[in-house]
Amino acid sequence: MSLGKIIDNKHNALSARIDKQKVPEHVAIIMDGNGRWATNKRLPRKYGHIRGVDVLKEILKASKKLGCKVLTVYAFSTENWTRPTEEVDFLINLFSEVLRNEIDEIHEESTKIKFIGDLNPFPETLKKIISSSESLTKNNNKFLLNVCVNYGGRQEIVKVARELALKSSSGEIKPTEINEELFNSELLTRGSKDPELLIRTSGEKRISNFLLWQLAYSEIYISNVMWPDFNELEFLKAILDYQSRNRRFGGIESLPNESLEDSQYSS
Ligand code: FPP
Repeated sequence: MSLGKIIDNKHNALSARIDKQKVPEHVAIIMDGNGRWATNKRLPRKYGHIRGVDVLKEILKASKKLGCKVLTVYAFSTENWTRPTEEVDFLINLFSEVLRNEIDEIHEESTKIKFIGDLNPFPETLKKIISSSESLTKNNNKFLLNVCVNYGGRQEIVKVARELALKSSSGEIKPTEINEELFNSELLTRGSKDPELLIRTSGEKRISNFLLWQLAYSEIYISNVMWPDFNELEFLKAILDYQSRNRRFGGIESLPNESLEDSQYSS
C-alpha cells in the first residue's frame, strides 16, 4: 500500500470517530517549534516560519471542514521583539507577503480576518495591508480567523481595566456595574465565545501570555509535534482528545443512577 493510501486510511478512521455534534466552535493555537524544526534540519530558522504558513493554511481548511467557526492563532507575541532583528524583520515581511497572496482566497471563502494586538510598532506597509484585509472581509460570516500579533494577555487585561476605569471616572458606568460581561465586551476578542480548545505544538506546556482571560475554562492539548510538522491528522487527534474530556467548568458531573443523597460519600 502506498504511503498516501495509508495516510488517507488513517485520516478516514480518525474522521469517522469524531462526533460532529461536539466539534469545538473556537480553537486557539500556539504555533510553536518553527525555529527548532529548522535548526534540527540544519536550516536557517526562517525556513520553519515559511513551512509554518503552509501548515496554518492546512489547519484553517481542516477546521472549516470540521465545522469549527473561529480559529485564533498566536503569530507574534509582545516578547518576540527580543529576537534578532533579522528574524523579526523576516516575520514582519512574511505576514505582509502571506496577506498579499492569500487575502483573495480568504475573502472568497467568506472568512473574516482580524488582527489582535497592538499594531502601532509595525511598519506602515504591514499596517496598511492589515487594515485593507480587515475591511475587505469585515462582513464575511462563515468563519473568523483571529491572528494575534504583538499580543500579550496581560497587556490586554490591563487595557480593559484602563478603559473601564476611564468610563467609570467619566460617569459613563458605575464601578459597581463592572462584571465579567462588561469586561468581556472590552476584550479584543469581543463577540466571539471563549475557545473551548487550546492546542500548543512542540511539547511546551505553557500558556505564554496568550488569551489569559479567554482560556479560563479551555481544554488544553499539547502536541509534541513541531508546528511545521503539524497537519490535519494531528489536528483531528487534538479534536478527538478534546471530545474525550469531561468538561465540568468547576462543577461536578451528574452521577448516573445515583443522587447526591444516596452517595456513600454524602454526609
Ligand atoms: C513560533 O515558533 C512561531 C512564530 C513566532 C511565528 C509563527 C508565524 C507564522 C506561522 C506565520 C503566520 C502568518 C500569518 C500572516 C498569520 P518559534 O520561532 O518560537 O519556534 P522555536 O520555539 O522552536 O524557536
